[in-house]
Amino acid sequence: MEYDIAKIRADFPILSEKVNGKSLIYLDNAATSQTPRQVVEAINKAYFTRKANVHRGVHCLSQKATAAMENGREAARRFVNASSSKEIIFTSGATEAINLVASSYGQLLPEDSEIILTIMEHHSNIVPWQLLAQKKNIKIKVAPILPDGSLDMDCFKNLFSSKTKMVSVCHVSNVLGTVNPVKEICSIAHNNGAKVLIDGAQAVPHFKVDVQDIDADFYVFSSHKMYGPTGIGILYGKENLLEIMPPYQGGGEMIGHVSFQGTTWADLPYKFEAGTPDFVGASAIAEAIEYLEKTDLSKIHVHEQDLLQYATNKIATIPDIRIFGTAQGKDAVISFLIGNAHHYDTGVLLDQLGIAVRTGHHCAQPLMEFLGIEGTVRASFAMYNTIEEIDTFIIALNRVAAMLS
Ligand code: ALA
Repeated sequence: MEYDIAKIRADFPILSEKVNGKSLIYLDNAATSQTPRQVVEAINKAYFTRKANVHRGVHCLSQKATAAMENGREAARRFVNASSSKEIIFTSGATEAINLVASSYGQLLPEDSEIILTIMEHHSNIVPWQLLAQKKNIKIKVAPILPDGSLDMDCFKNLFSSKTKMVSVCHVSNVLGTVNPVKEICSIAHNNGAKVLIDGAQAVPHFKVDVQDIDADFYVFSSHKMYGPTGIGILYGKENLLEIMPPYQGGGEMIGHVSFQGTTWADLPYKFEAGTPDFVGASAIAEAIEYLEKTDLSKIHVHEQDLLQYATNKIATIPDIRIFGTAQGKDAVISFLIGNAHHYDTGVLLDQLGIAVRTGHHCAQPLMEFLGIEGTVRASFAMYNTIEEIDTFIIALNRVAAMLS
């Protein structure tokens, strides 16, 4: 089947909105993607026809709500090819998923351990480990990047010691678009006796991920970046690791039996899902995943790579442009600065022309410091963006460049 961009765009009503009197061109997809009608309808349906608490009621609505939530879990399992739905934990997003692992698995790390991160990490994959390091005598080591934005694998390998117990790395950089060799990273880490967490928030909307093939110990992602509802995300963890990890939060649903003499924990995955979960979001994730599957991630990937190639060639013709991140096989993100123009001014002027981009440090201040800049302008593409939108974006950028030079 053809990649029917008009049909896809028709599923996203927001793309017909006007911003500042201009047709919206939404190029801030790495921050959050837009949501297709089918997902919003699934959310409505849950509220209108089966809003009831899950795993508790004997009544029909509760059973329907529970089945819909577990259908979302099964879809997420299939989406990343986990071997069991016990390995799929619902969280509030990728950030909470990393905090869960750092807090819970972190308790199992011996004092004096070392954790390896990379300079391209989002704050959500830095600060949870720093919080852990403050509680235990743990050292954080940071792998640098090469000039094209790819991970310096020689330096990365040299960071390992007998104390290295954990590696936590993004699959795709939200700033540079670099796609890290996560399978190789897992193999190196495992050979050195370390576990690996992969932050897949910027990967799963763009290409097929197989956690078993990668051999990731933990893999996290957020629903709102993959056309799903906001406020929900997924932690995938290998069952044997999740089994030995202590609970992250206490409350209802995560227990086996509670008494003041001692409490036991529920089986996986519920041990890590204290309190009433976002059962509506969990059920609607299934719709987002079905949308991605139906549209075909491999076709989405080809389309977004075409947009990236086209936009990169065009943007390179703008005088005094600097692009940050040119690694081979990079994902559909372009971070840039024009001459001495401030990233914020560029973003505001583009917004006047109806074009949404992100500006600033992108929650990656250590990377900005490494690059010797305060921030960038970032255009990030999704399945519904078009070549015509890129043309309009480039015309707008030329205007902005002329105004700010
Ligand atoms: N992590 C999101 C971004 O890169 C918010 O914009």
